[in-house]
Amino acid sequence: MMITSILLMAGKGERMNKDINKVLLELGNKKIFEYSLYKLLKYTDEVICVVSKNDYDEVIKLLPSEVKVTIGGKTRGESVFNGLKMASYDNIIIHDSARPFLDEKLLKDIKKDFDEYDAILTYNECKDTIYLNDLELNVLNRDKLIRAITPQCGKKDILIEAYMKAVEENKTFTDDISLILNYYPNIKISTIKASDNLFKITTPIDYELAKLIWREYD
Ligand code: CTP
Ligand code: MG
Repeated sequence: MMITSILLMAGKGERMNKDINKVLLELGNKKIFEYSLYKLLKYTDEVICVVSKNDYDEVIKLLPSEVKVTIGGKTRGESVFNGLKMASYDNIIIHDSARPFLDEKLLKDIKKDFDEYDAILTYNECKDTIYLNDLELNVLNRDKLIRAITPQCGKKDILIEAYMKAVEENKTFTDDISLILNYYPNIKISTIKASDNLFKITTPIDYELAKLIWREYD
């Protein structure tokens, strides 16, 4: 079974407050995006990097020749769709390069689930108590909550169909699995609990935390 990985790196990293895209920041002896890049190159059959126009010249110099490259869009969804159009294989892994700490076990579990499921959602447990911030301040039952992270995975045909519909209807979704579920509510989805280390580097404190653990993933 063959897998294409779409590695998203076409954001601006505004919440990091640096003058460059956060995924190009140094972490140990490489850049943030290179951690997930090399794991995906090792465990999947094709990697497509989705890069912004701004970063293209710098990034292209750092990529091994077998990596495919395409330009991202204004939203994360547009960036995913651009990557999907270049995918060669039927099984797709979509990953945020801002989550550098992918591990081998997770990628192996995903590979197994592609045999049985149409899509795969990875998640972290919810550590906080969550309220709806409305007049009633209803508390949500934490045992029933999960936090969606990436990798998010699906069959190429389903993802492309769903993304085309979303474009037609001018709808945006905050992640890929919710987009798939909106158009294909009955497909078989597996959920895999991932390590807390797969957190997303979003603000400066996340970057500081990453500096403490990168060696485990070098
Ligand atoms: N991403 C992308 N194309 C976009 C927006 C985001 O490929 N138009 C990617 C980012 O590079 C990141 C991942 O999607 O790896 C998750 O997005 P996020 O953490 O929000 O990153 P940024 O959008 O870059 O950060 P911010 O929202 O703070 O500007
Ligand atoms: Mg963003």
